[in-house]
Amino acid sequence: MNTPPKAELHVHIEGTLEPEMVFALARRNDIALPHESVADLRAKYEFADLQSFLDIYYANMAVLRTAADFRDLAAAYLDRCAAHGVRHAEIFFDPQAHLKRGVAMETVIGGLCAALDDSEVSASLILCFLRDESAESAAEALRLAEPFLDRIVGVGLDSAEVGHPPSKFTEVFRRAHELGLRAVAHAGEEGPPEYVREALDLLGVQRIDHGIRALEDPELVERLRREQIPLTVCPLSNVRLGAFAELGHHTLPRLLEHGLLVTVNSDDPAYFGGYADENFDAVRRELGLTPEQLRTLAANSFRASFLDEDGKAAFL
Ligand code: HPA
Ligand code: ZN
Repeated sequence: MNTPPKAELHVHIEGTLEPEMVFALARRNDIALPHESVADLRAKYEFADLQSFLDIYYANMAVLRTAADFRDLAAAYLDRCAAHGVRHAEIFFDPQAHLKRGVAMETVIGGLCAALDDSEVSASLILCFLRDESAESAAEALRLAEPFLDRIVGVGLDSAEVGHPPSKFTEVFRRAHELGLRAVAHAGEEGPPEYVREALDLLGVQRIDHGIRALEDPELVERLRREQIPLTVCPLSNVRLGAFAELGHHTLPRLLEHGLLVTVNSDDPAYFGGYADENFDAVRRELGLTPEQLRTLAANSFRASFLDEDGKAAFL
């Protein structure tokens, strides 16, 4: 694989937890697992939809207990970035999923930052709120993160989408903007185009994560094009969670043809069959993207990043 240098803007650090590391951390932390082997765990990675994935994703996280666990997780991901031509990463993390297991915000952020500080890959953190938890719980997570805001570039919104519209989180995103944070949100992955509009109009997000269902709404597509709102698309994830029956049916080429600012990302690579390069390679192979389109996707990833203009210029 030799795709061009790129940024990764849509990756959940907990979604980089490989089955081998689940077992290694379970051993280190003396946690009993309900799986017989790495192969047995991996065999369970057949997903019908987002929720069936999230059930395993949250269950596996139970092995992450100490700052060293979060450090090792992020260090392994950043090593893979270096091997996959990813020069800059804006990494999601899900603190509410750890807080409710009794793991402190400081443990999570301290561990992740130990790896970031030690890596040659440029990287920052995006704190995601779990949309299937309450707005109060999100506000509490943001409050607990305030002492660490110099380590966080923005906030995001993830987890089970349908039935949990962006409007539920207007207030906590308003507070995040007040604190000087950038904002993104998952929208239009399984949820309707209306959720994409809400994320833009009510949450003031600067990027949409996924956004694939925007294509159902021509006026929204025109707005995304006009305002050049980035969409962080995750091709292998979309296939593994059932949005498309096979990669050859993915609408990535249509999004590009509409002139949208699209990027390619791995989402939860330990679960969906590939890191950044595997996603690039798969769309090249299965969707017949031209070298020119692949260069556009790579350049878009820096353009859509939260790097400052000098930082972008250094990569572009
Ligand atoms: N979608 C929504 N929430 C998530 C995902 C995803 O693909 N991965 C981790 N949290
Ligand atoms: Zn995601």
